[in-house]
Amino acid sequence: MQQARPPPRGRIVDALELIRSIPELRARRQATTRPVALVPTMGALHDGHLRLIEEAGRLSDEVWVSIFVNPAQFAPSEDLSRYPRPIEADLAACESAGVSVVFNPSPDDMYPPGAVPTQIDVPDLATEFEGAHRPGHFAGVCRVVFKLFSLCQPTFACFGLKDYQQLVVIEALVADLNLPIAIQRVPTVREPDGLAMSSRNRYLGPDARRRAVGLFKALQLARRLIADDGEADPAVVERAMLQTLEAHHIRPDYAAVRHPHSLQPIDSIDRPVVALIAGQLEGVRLLDNAEIK
Ligand code: PAF
Repeated sequence: MQQARPPPRGRIVDALELIRSIPELRARRQATTRPVALVPTMGALHDGHLRLIEEAGRLSDEVWVSIFVNPAQFAPSEDLSRYPRPIEADLAACESAGVSVVFNPSPDDMYPPGAVPTQIDVPDLATEFEGAHRPGHFAGVCRVVFKLFSLCQPTFACFGLKDYQQLVVIEALVADLNLPIAIQRVPTVREPDGLAMSSRNRYLGPDARRRAVGLFKALQLARRLIADDGEADPAVVERAMLQTLEAHHIRPDYAAVRHPHSLQPIDSIDRPVVALIAGQLEGVRLLDNAEIK
């Protein structure tokens, strides 16, 4: 895909301040005494991101958005090079949403050549599901999120429930490393047919896009089985979700009913659970989840 040329450093887009270097970001952080509400993103902003920004705006009038396609969280076989980077459209969206600062560093700023990498590991939560299907993914997410926290020193950071496993991994990181940051969980925004908004949805052709609703349908079925029919056996619900994915020609990566905090298997559904699913459609990986009470 064609790469948009990054705007020049330090450019002020009306009220929105675009910062591309770490020294400038540090200076900007030192200059504010107000609490920062951070929304970390990889850009290609959609309504799901705008919901995160809206939530951040409720927490502080100093809303900072990072836009950085983080190479460390992509495996070599993944879509790093074709990941969309519509920076001008993203800046316009941030500006209309009232964002104060966009931090848009280059990969060399975030990972200077020659730097010795650090690894932050949350093995109890990050090994299964996305961790199993995308080896190294969570190490890359934790590393960049820790860097962003350290640079922006936010009081609040907003993350979407859409990436449920990522959310619980980051919550654990913040708790275990005693970071003074309140993580705000923000609900998933969906298309009218129920498909969870994701920057990767734009890879879907018309047929795959129609069938992608199978993920939402599988979660609706899980909710019906558990909340309406009182189904207590996780294996029954998991099988039903898999069948729904397959009926929509989605190649399942996983469909699981788990404890909502530990993500551990449960013997019986007698308390709130989370249903986690992921699958592939014409080579596009999609994931979704539902908390079921
Ligand atoms: O969820 C995302 O967009 C990314 O994983 C994040 C948290 C911005 C880290 O690169």
